Order: sequence, then structure tokens, then C-alpha cells
Amino acid sequence: MKQEVSYNGLKFEPYLTKEQIAKRVAELAKDIERDCAGKCPLFVCVLNGAFTFAADLFRAVDIDAEISFIRLKSYDGTGSTGKVKELVGLTEDIEGRDVIIIEDIVDTGNTMVKLIEDFKAKKPANVKVATLLYKPDSVRHDLQLDYVGFPIPSKFIIGYGLDLDGIARNLPDIYVLKETK
Ligand code: IMP
Ligand code: MG
Repeated sequence: MKQEVSYNGLKFEPYLTKEQIAKRVAELAKDIERDCAGKCPLFVCVLNGAFTFAADLFRAVDIDAEISFIRLKSYDGTGSTGKVKELVGLTEDIEGRDVIIIEDIVDTGNTMVKLIEDFKAKKPANVKVATLLYKPDSVRHDLQLDYVGFPIPSKFIIGYGLDLDGIARNLPDIYVLKETK
């Protein structure tokens, strides 16, 4: 892992190593196996940010399951815009199904609240949420998160799928924005 990376003039320092992430993903996969065996859950990966986490989590879950993708956008630079745009929606019929939404990070919770509401209207048996990261101090809603990788402070992070205006998603580890002193 690099000691520092820099994008768009901003400096970032190490936060979570790929080994720490892999270990936690394996634990979450075991929890999902235990809860969802025999239900053939439909995982729904929220693009773009969750693609790396979804690929690792989905392969670690050793039960019959399906995966699909939706695409949303809410962030601009290092801050949430407060508005959630749906760029690509769900094509599957989820009525009666066990659905697990896979997110990279829950920040204000705006995205997740809207998604859960939209999904519940389609009458699934169950909607659960798996998020790699969660910022408890930023969340503005009463949200049930079923599988959480790491609760983190309300700082801007990049890597392992998470971006700064489209770049840095290919970093294998996670980095946090350095405080400017
Ligand atoms: P929310 O709607 O405020 O919860 O924001 C959710 C979305 O914002 C996530 O799916 C991410 O794509 C993006 N996001 C939130 N925090 C960060 C961050 O620290 N780095 C990169 N993207 C973030
Ligand atoms: Mg996202």
C-alpha cells in the first residue's frame, strides 16, 4: 500500500488495507449464507461504487443466489448533492423475492432510503442491505443496515470502487482524505 496518493490536488493516506477488507468481506458472506440459505436471494449491486465489493462478496457467498445491477448517482466531488438520480433501473421482477442491496457506502443515507422505498413498492419478500462502509455520524435517516463491513468517521474516502469524480476506483486499498493543517 502506498503511504500517500494524490488526485485532483487532494492528498489521501492509508485507511483500510486490502487484507482487512478481504477478511471482513468473508465474514459478511458467512452471515449472509447463514441467513439466506435456501432462499436464492437476488443481490442488487448499486453501480458504480459497489462493483468491487459486490464482485468479492458475491463470490464469497456459497449458496444459490443471483445478481443484478442498478446505477445511481448522488455525489459530486467530495460532497453529497442530496439528490439521487437513477441512471439505470432494475429489470428483474422482485415480487416475493429476497433482495439484498449491495452498497459501497452509506453516508447521509439518502440513496438507501430512496432505494428501499422503491424496492418495497415492488413487493419483495424481504429487502436487506449490505454495505461495506457506513458513516454513522452523517446518516440523516432511521435506517436498518443488515450487514455492515466497517463503521467509519465522516471523512471522504477513495479506493476499492469508491471514487473522487470518477477516478481512484481501481486502488486495491482504501484511503482517506488528509486533514489540511
Ligand atoms: P448517501 O446517499 O449520502 O448515503 O451517499 C451514498 C453514495 O455517495 C455512495 O453510494 C457513494 O457512491 C457516495 N459516497 C458517500 N461517501 C463517499 C466517500 O467518502 N467517498 C466516495 N463516495 C462516497
Ligand atoms: Mg455508491
